[in-house]
Amino acid sequence: MIKLTIDDKVVEVAPGATILVAAKSVGIAIPTLCYLESCGSTGSCMVCAVQNSENSRMLPACAARCEAGMKISTSSSAVIEFRRGVIELLLNEHRGDCLAPCQLACPYGLDISTMLHLLVQTKHKEAAELLFRSIPDPQQTCPDCRGGCELACRRGRHDKPIAIRQIIADLSTQNVGVPHLMGADLRAAKCNSTYKTYNHHFGLVTKEDMAILLEGKNANDDTGEAARCLRCDCRAVNDCQLRQLAAEYDAEQQRFGKSSVKFDRVYYGEVGYEVGKCVKCGNCIAVGERLKPGQGPVFSDRGARLTVSAPFGIDKDKLFDNIADECIKVCPTGALFRD
Ligand code: SF4
Ligand code: SF4
Ligand code: SF4
Ligand code: FES
Repeated sequence: MIKLTIDDKVVEVAPGATILVAAKSVGIAIPTLCYLESCGSTGSCMVCAVQNSENSRMLPACAARCEAGMKISTSSSAVIEFRRGVIELLLNEHRGDCLAPCQLACPYGLDISTMLHLLVQTKHKEAAELLFRSIPDPQQTCPDCRGGCELACRRGRHDKPIAIRQIIADLSTQNVGVPHLMGADLRAAKCNSTYKTYNHHFGLVTKEDMAILLEGKNANDDTGEAARCLRCDCRAVNDCQLRQLAAEYDAEQQRFGKSSVKFDRVYYGEVGYEVGKCVKCGNCIAVGERLKPGQGPVFSDRGARLTVSAPFGIDKDKLFDNIADECIKVCPTGALFRD
């Protein structure tokens, strides 16, 4: 066994154990993005940085092996500052919205994008439930509101905003037997929420971005007005590890200046991929390789243009067949998603 000290706790581990495993054994949590217990680490993100107090070097806890006598710090101000810098670099290379502009503009925080998507799927009851959970009396509230959601609607920059208030008016007349949350309870629930949040913003939408966002969002689609929605929100908003880390470390989106990261959204069968949200952790590739050797996703291109794609000779639409759930699950952000 090897003895070392982590944050003043003496730890004994078997030779070959990583600092991450040693820290976990004494209840010290270290954040990770590119580490999977089942596949190991690519050591690429450095979010798990810890400091060797003897020589001040930062080490990736997920990959660095314990050595006898080591003194490791996982929470000094230098470590926290270093991790914040790493997270801010990732945010600088990120393109997308956590929450859609319409939701951010709604005083009740209604998740309009999901509501519209439920309507497209003809799930009217679920859409109405979502509506009434956020706005207890939409029949009165929405006609009196200045319609910030429509003013903020990204589709309005292309042709005209989604007719959100009309859709809500139609939906709220339906008797779907939804238990209404009373206004006072709702306000109390909002006030009691003390968690810090982080919201990434897409930034300036170029013509090229809009062309990609508009793909498949034809105004004449027979599913109606709701189908015009560009789905600006991120499907991983509630469990994105990058978003959680950004909040925890008080990270800023633009500490390193304006980003020129490209937006792109491609579909591999039913699995969507947004390169602007991909942190290039390799988790989906490692899982694909384990479950479907040689036929799962691979990295193509290099440097800033690195992207997840299909290997040569593999049908793009079948890339995630049988591995979609696992790959989406290990993706630490919303880069891989289902609509
Ligand atoms: S991947 Fe995470 S940080 Fe990026 S937009 Fe989605 S929720 Fe926000
Ligand atoms: S296009 Fe849809 S998700 Fe985007 S802002 Fe408009 S209603 Fe919201
Ligand atoms: S798609 Fe997700 S899991 Fe795959 S490399 Fe990008 S961030 Fe990692
Ligand atoms: S989790 Fe350790 S380098 Fe990414």
